[in-house]
Amino acid sequence: MPKVTFIPQNKEVKVEAGTDLLKAADMAGLYIEGDCAGRGTCGKCKVKIAEGEKSKPNKAEEKHLSEKEIDAGWVLACQHKMEKDLVVEIPIQKDAHLRKTSLKGGVEHLSAEPLVEKVHVKMERPAVEDQTADLERLLRHLEKPDLSVELRELSQFPALLRSNSFAVTVAITGNRIISIEPGDTTNQIFGVAFDIGTTTIAGSLIDLKKAEVLAVAAITNPQNAYGADVISRITHASESRENLQQLQDKVIEAANSIIKDLLKQTKVARDRIYEVTAVGNTTMSHLFMGVDPTYLAPAPFVPAYSRALEVEASALGLNINPAGRVIFLPNIAGYVGSDTVGVILATDMDKRTENCAAIDIGTNGELVLAANGRLMACSTAAGPAFEGAQIKHGMRAASGAIELVNYEDGEIKLSMIDDAPACGICGSGLIDSIAALVNAGLIESSGRFVNPEDNPEKVPEQFKDRLRKGTNGYEFVLVAAEDSDTGEDIVLSQGDVRELQLAKGAIYAGLMILLKEAGISKDDLDQILLAGAFGNYVRKESALTIGLLPQLPPEKIIAVGNAAGDGARMALASKSVRDRAKALPEKVEHLELSTRMDFQDIFVDAMSFTKV
Ligand code: FES
Repeated sequence: MPKVTFIPQNKEVKVEAGTDLLKAADMAGLYIEGDCAGRGTCGKCKVKIAEGEKSKPNKAEEKHLSEKEIDAGWVLACQHKMEKDLVVEIPIQKDAHLRKTSLKGGVEHLSAEPLVEKVHVKMERPAVEDQTADLERLLRHLEKPDLSVELRELSQFPALLRSNSFAVTVAITGNRIISIEPGDTTNQIFGVAFDIGTTTIAGSLIDLKKAEVLAVAAITNPQNAYGADVISRITHASESRENLQQLQDKVIEAANSIIKDLLKQTKVARDRIYEVTAVGNTTMSHLFMGVDPTYLAPAPFVPAYSRALEVEASALGLNINPAGRVIFLPNIAGYVGSDTVGVILATDMDKRTENCAAIDIGTNGELVLAANGRLMACSTAAGPAFEGAQIKHGMRAASGAIELVNYEDGEIKLSMIDDAPACGICGSGLIDSIAALVNAGLIESSGRFVNPEDNPEKVPEQFKDRLRKGTNGYEFVLVAAEDSDTGEDIVLSQGDVRELQLAKGAIYAGLMILLKEAGISKDDLDQILLAGAFGNYVRKESALTIGLLPQLPPEKIIAVGNAAGDGARMALASKSVRDRAKALPEKVEHLELSTRMDFQDIFVDAMSFTKV
């Protein structure tokens, strides 16, 4: 069996001949960036053969790699099959940026109402006159004789009592003792709130006594290796039980590595985490719980469940107190998940009296409308363009991503995350750069680049070298090779503009259908809330320029940050918010856009860059 050594990680793995490098890396526990689940269409999984023989480039490699790259040993990991031993260099992957989460979040304050109650007891020692058993002695002290106790906790209980002078703390949920701890730990009640995104997973450690966020952490969802979109992951999971298990293992491993990071940051003990809440789209919810998502893909898009699911942490393999509870908030429909429930909780959409829309822009676009006493929601197949996927030089919001683009004084000005050298374009940079090129007159309202051969007068002198013919139509060079971190030009291609048009057209059309259903027009909207990983980063002016949003006064458009994650935090901190969440699926009217005859017409119109 040929052996591959991945550097700089120095991980070795032996694989069957014919295994591709993407799979080999996965077997070695490494993650190689890629959006197309190994279909050879995204060109993102570039690795370099440092030692050993490489095979002749195939069609996909010829399409996505320059001659220079091929000569230097670059291959597409998903296309290169192992035949002999190799040493393969994986380029440094930029970590998912912490944009998805912040210590404060958009929620002003969380209210403390933990499920877990802790009581410190100091008992008298047993004596010949009082031979009451240890557990009964404890329950007598608590004055709760009917409490049950985890067998696991009971196993070391006698020794624990005696080595702590009969002073212990018990953690109780409902009528169950879930933990017996030495000394007084009544101040230590912690929980973790997860936002399981298709692209990024974020977690917040919360002190449930004080309702305070102590630490946050985020990583790229390692399921990305099976495709950037939910359909690819559903397809993979539906192929076999093992595949479903594989996807569940990936997300649980990721959640555990976030927990590890949070504990390291705060020095909180793992066993003092008793509760976890999670939100995510319906597919992520199924994969996290290990439930077959197959029937979410074809019409009529039926999930296996929509209610909130609650299980013991140990059943999932989550590294918190083994008796801790994990609750995945309820889904509304096959493509409107608990992340939307989180948005509703965090933005109080269920309590609003004014007309208000919330748009959660992530890998999918979910929309909620509160109007005339109704609460409606729908999802649009916006595609992952806003997360940088399916975009030629797209990337997630990480160091070096172009995040702001301005057309000013006849120049295109850029800024990158962390002021690092440019290495790609993230979602906000994509919206901005297209808005800037529309403003500069280089992109027509149809979405086509101006043709410099037919209309040379439309291309200002300073852009003449930057607007050029690419492999598929024209492209604009945002950063020249000598200034980029990747050593190649970073361009915005005609295909990228099309991807964005599809995404923004879908979101706009979804919103229009909701308004139509509620019997109001865009002018009746009092507010549009922009939620999602980059809700805070999208510039309203750019969103309005490209027609992602209807033309409304900018003060009516409010960025609310990662509202889905905030909803998970609120539900973690407070039992009543959790109960509110559980009741939401009944209150929200779900609109299925695929059955709407009017969607297509609005969508086609909404793809143009004419302001609407
Ligand atoms: S081209 Fe290899 S994962 Fe997309």
